[in-house]
Amino acid sequence: MSFSRLFVMQLVGMVMLFGILASPGWAKTHHRTFVIQEATYTRLCNHTKNILTVNGLYPGPTISARNGDIVYVKVINKGNKNITIHWHGVNQPRNPWSDGPEYITQCPVQPGGNFTQRIEFTEEEGTLWWHAHSQYDRATVYGAIVIYPKLGTRYPFAKPHKEFTLIIGEWWNANITDVYNNAIQSGGEFQISDINTINGQPGDFAPCSANGNFISLYKSERCYSNKTTLQVVVTSYCN
Ligand SMILES: *[C@@H]1O[C@H](CO)[C@@H](O)[C@H](O)[C@H]1NC(C)=O
Ligand SMILES: *[C@@H]1O[C@H](CO)[C@@H](O)[C@H](O)[C@H]1NC(C)=O
Ligand SMILES: *[C@@H]1O[C@H](CO)[C@@H](O)[C@H](O)[C@H]1NC(C)=O
Ligand SMILES: *[C@@H]1O[C@H](CO)[C@@H](O)[C@H](O)[C@H]1NC(C)=O
Ligand SMILES: *[C@@H]1O[C@H](CO)[C@@H](O)[C@H](O)[C@H]1NC(C)=O
Repeated sequence: MSFSRLFVMQLVGMVMLFGILASPGWAKTHHRTFVIQEATYTRLCNHTKNILTVNGLYPGPTISARNGDIVYVKVINKGNKNITIHWHGVNQPRNPWSDGPEYITQCPVQPGGNFTQRIEFTEEEGTLWWHAHSQYDRATVYGAIVIYPKLGTRYPFAKPHKEFTLIIGEWWNANITDVYNNAIQSGGEFQISDINTINGQPGDFAPCSANGNFISLYKSERCYSNKTTLQVVVTSYCN
């Protein structure tokens, strides 16, 4: 075999190996910034309080990606306490240092600090959620993750007519750090939340719920035309 032929074969082998190692052409890399900061929210009439949020939002921003994508999230802590963020249900093979549980896979991000986490969607598809994984901060620091199928593939059901995100959660009138400290000190149960929420809002049965309440109207014809409305449900219950 001539030298040049051997060289070409080696080159072809290297290109093939690179092709196997590199991510597929359609996979994307996304960059998001999560600023941990306090924001003022009022629920159940007079209960106005500062809560920890991501980017001032309660619930926090939705992360959208496709199966196969990689998302880098820069977590910048402008809050007043240590915090970590966890990608709930994402397998993260060989990538535990981005997983979030405080003092298990990482030290918390301290006030004024930042930490960039890499989320690899290697096989996940559908809906998951992210939440704080330090003390009880997940009570207000959480949001949805929506993972679409790989390009060229689809969910194993008819294409939805429409989709929107529903996040079920809880609201405490009390300071969440106090709720956590009381439970840790007494060794007892966590204080039960004051109301359940959908997308951060109590329902119409709760006092003073009208402002910003989440309402979705359906035309009945949709129910009979065999179109699917995909309702993404992410539960962020603490207890
Ligand atoms: C709390 O809100 C209710 C309903 O808006 C109002 O009637 C009541 O006066 C408020 N109480 C205080 C202490 O602000
Ligand atoms: C909640 O309580 C903690 C500890 O008592 C305190 O440091 C923090 O400032 C309180 N947060 C708010 C928003 O009041
Ligand atoms: C915050 O995190 C740092 C680094 O892990 C740690 O040294 C410190 O004790 C933590 N502070 C609190 C109040 O837990
Ligand atoms: C992130 O932290 C590094 C030090 O670890 C610092 O140099 C950088 O300015 C910080 N970036 C932001 C956006 O806070
Ligand atoms: C609705 O669609 C499904 C699957 O696409 C089909 O099996 C079913 O027969 C349809 N039903 C009606 C009432 O058209």
